[in-house]
Amino acid sequence: MSVHSSVRRISVPAIRARKGERPIVALTAYSALTARLVDAHADVILVGDSVAMVEHGMESTLGASLDMMILHGRSVMRASENALVVVDLPFGTYEEGPTQAYRSAVRVLTETGCTAVKLEGGASQAETIAFLTTRGIPVMAHIGLTPQSVMTIGGFKTQGRQKSDWRQIERDAASVAEAGAFSVVLEGMVEPLAAKITRSIPIPTIGIGASASCDGQILVLEDMLGLSPRVPRFVRRFEDLGARIEAAIREYVAAVTTRAFPSSAETYAAKE
Ligand code: KIV
Repeated sequence: MSVHSSVRRISVPAIRARKGERPIVALTAYSALTARLVDAHADVILVGDSVAMVEHGMESTLGASLDMMILHGRSVMRASENALVVVDLPFGTYEEGPTQAYRSAVRVLTETGCTAVKLEGGASQAETIAFLTTRGIPVMAHIGLTPQSVMTIGGFKTQGRQKSDWRQIERDAASVAEAGAFSVVLEGMVEPLAAKITRSIPIPTIGIGASASCDGQILVLEDMLGLSPRVPRFVRRFEDLGARIEAAIREYVAAVTTRAFPSSAETYAAKE
């Protein structure tokens, strides 16, 4: 069975060409329900390993598995037709080296039908990124605050507060671009550093908590909708869906407990 279809999505070269042009709109989605809504508006849908926390209630992204990412990737692919879909390679499925990464990425691409994978790491992942891209696998890189390394970083801390740290982060950005990544997520980074990187590398930067100076922005959908119980400080909430859903549930409870439902006969009569 082929997972490929005739749907024409935004391509990797089209995203790459947005460097310095119209900002790239990216959002996460993990399910068919949200992918359908996001697809109508976003250039890129990321099936992020944040799914482990948002949908599976885990403490960090470290518990995401390849099977989990593939399952969610398939749902998102079924419900989208415009956006370029990128699926995260989860912790432990690529860090051993290029061949492990290749095997994982091939599974993700062939079993979901998505266009690209994302992996975390800068200079340390350059060899792997080059290995994948020269074998036809588009890679989105992710540097700065990399949640899969939260234990070594020592928490979710903004990167680049000390100017002495800039050089390594700039080197990371240059390395992933040189290795062939078509774009790079800059997460949790001070604005002047994100702006400097954006000016200095030839691929689009997609910021999350890295300021408006990036070539595009990404947020976790549930965070910006007000559905996540805890969100990073930099997240702008565009809605308070959590409160609205609770209000609807309260109304439902009231309707059930006061028997304020139409009888089935009335319901059928209304439909005729
Ligand atoms: O997993 C994720 O959702 C991400 C974004 C926050 C960039 O990596």
